[in-house]
Amino acid sequence: MCGIFAVIGSREVSSLLIDGLRKLEYRGYDSAGIATIDNSNKDNSGQINVKKSKGKLINLSNLIKQKLPKGHVGIGHTRWATHGKPNERNAHPHLDFSGQIAVVQNGIIENYRDISKSLAIKGIKFTSETDTEIIPHLIGLEIEQSLANGFPPNGHTLLKAVQKVLTWLEGTYAIAVIWSKAPNALVVASEQAPLVLGFGEGEFFCASDTPALVGFTRTFLPLRDHEIALLTPLGIELYGDDGNRQHRAPSLLQGTEFFADKKDFRHFMLKEIYEQPETAQQWLDRFLPMDLPSGNSVALPISTSLVERIEQIQILACGTSRHAGMVGAYLLEQFAGVPTKVYFASEFRYAPPPLSPNTLTIGVSQSGETADTLAALRMEKERRDSADDPNFYFHQLGITNRVDSSLGRELENVIDIESGIEIGVAATKTFLGQMLSFYGLTLLFASHRQKRSSQEILDLSHDLRLIPKQLADLIKKHDSLSQEIAHLFVDTKDVIFLGRGINYPIALEGALKLKEISYIHAQGYPAGELKHGPIALLDQHVPVVSIAVPGIVYEKVLSNSQEAKARDARLIGVSTYGPESEMFDELFTIPKVSEWISPLLTVVPLQLFSYHIAAHKGLDVDQPRNLAKSVTVE
Ligand code: M6R
Repeated sequence: MCGIFAVIGSREVSSLLIDGLRKLEYRGYDSAGIATIDNSNKDNSGQINVKKSKGKLINLSNLIKQKLPKGHVGIGHTRWATHGKPNERNAHPHLDFSGQIAVVQNGIIENYRDISKSLAIKGIKFTSETDTEIIPHLIGLEIEQSLANGFPPNGHTLLKAVQKVLTWLEGTYAIAVIWSKAPNALVVASEQAPLVLGFGEGEFFCASDTPALVGFTRTFLPLRDHEIALLTPLGIELYGDDGNRQHRAPSLLQGTEFFADKKDFRHFMLKEIYEQPETAQQWLDRFLPMDLPSGNSVALPISTSLVERIEQIQILACGTSRHAGMVGAYLLEQFAGVPTKVYFASEFRYAPPPLSPNTLTIGVSQSGETADTLAALRMEKERRDSADDPNFYFHQLGITNRVDSSLGRELENVIDIESGIEIGVAATKTFLGQMLSFYGLTLLFASHRQKRSSQEILDLSHDLRLIPKQLADLIKKHDSLSQEIAHLFVDTKDVIFLGRGINYPIALEGALKLKEISYIHAQGYPAGELKHGPIALLDQHVPVVSIAVPGIVYEKVLSNSQEAKARDARLIGVSTYGPESEMFDELFTIPKVSEWISPLLTVVPLQLFSYHIAAHKGLDVDQPRNLAKSVTVE
């Protein structure tokens, strides 16, 4: 979603801004812009230069390359449209009525309509349809007042004006502001939207996410809610919402692979699919090593006392992360015997179930910045805290790929899936990492509750340890098969995915992958539901993908698939090879494995199938239209 990158120092910043924004491209956006303060006039009066363009960053970089806007301070933005069409007019930065103040913003200002009306009454004309534009105007008015009251045109005057304006805004946002009369100042603030400060050598940064800082600095400090900072070429002053200076030690970016390259792959998504055996191996090495101390089923960072207290689990997540949660819920209930429910985070917040005692709330988010998931978790914490009853204590666990994210910081217990940065908007290897974490939790709860025999626990662990090799074989085999058949589906308009039991979430995930990158409408159903309505859609133009894995629902899924075939649907199987395979027009074979672990494998052909259809159609696989990697607005 929107990305902010801003810098202040002693060198020219326009190309640095483009560099930083490029590292935020993976978040998804539809226009981009920068503003710098050109301070080269002899009289020291700065001039704001704004350059914006619709579409990809390359358009902006082509626009400015003839004549780079000058300035040692600048703010940059990639916009994912919420209020107003994705065009140049609505792209950020936005200027105030005097043309002296420029602002970029992420998030949504909820009371912008009321504020715009009162600004219009004061004669202020708006040049965009955005909620953002009220901010520079409000700051402009406040600064006019400060100057009239004799305050000098400097960074602290800007800081004070921004502080005041923020008290009038409702919503969640991160902003960066510059003022042509204070070219040595950059003011940034955050309210429930991610923003990190970067400490370089003689230059300072702020960005929506840490990958943007790579190559500039490894020292960073995430802003907390309601915090505001004044950046100058000499350093950073951080203030809390009470106006007091804050002193917190910055952290050091971990990992070297923060900004991955595509290597020889055509797209990041394909590379990330190929990285799954490694993701699985690393997860196993950390959490399920061969040399586990005796009596331990898994090495997750979760205390025994927590596990012992928990009677039920609720999982809050969105999109693919919710599908991982659904696989988890199946395992936790059916294998470990813990009642578990999965919620759309976006629904949970406004329709939570009655408080249940001794409940573990698990937030799942690869980015750790999904606004719906964070808001649901915060709401749950608040209502459990205010119940003031030890039975309703907020027992919490996060599963994320970004421990440095808001989710990672806000939750007490976190499983870091450490899948390595995922650039493709379509989640693949992080889905695997999330599912594996639920397998780990299942082993933990099953052994503590003595729900399963030690042999069953050992069998599941043993099967999990075989996964990396099986994944590697599957990827190799199905990459070429899906490439071969992709052309058959280029004109397809609708696809139905069927699965049952533990593979029902995989049917949903297969459909989501296909929709998001190939723009083909797809729907996942529990196979038994087909005859209750969706079957009316079937004919020779609507292919059906059926996940049929030997186990308790195998025969049932095969019968449901036959029903589809009888309606002339082209049948694509994700199944083991056997006499039954004949019914499938196309078959992605998977090895004969225990049904428990089958989702770790059945998802792979579906990822490749979607990928090759989208690639064959020549679509932007890594950054599909309208989508964002981190969905930071509700
Ligand atoms: O970062 P999160 O895991 O919280 O993201 C949740 C969804 O937005 C995400 O899974 C989305 O559905 C992906 N694009 C799926 O590929």
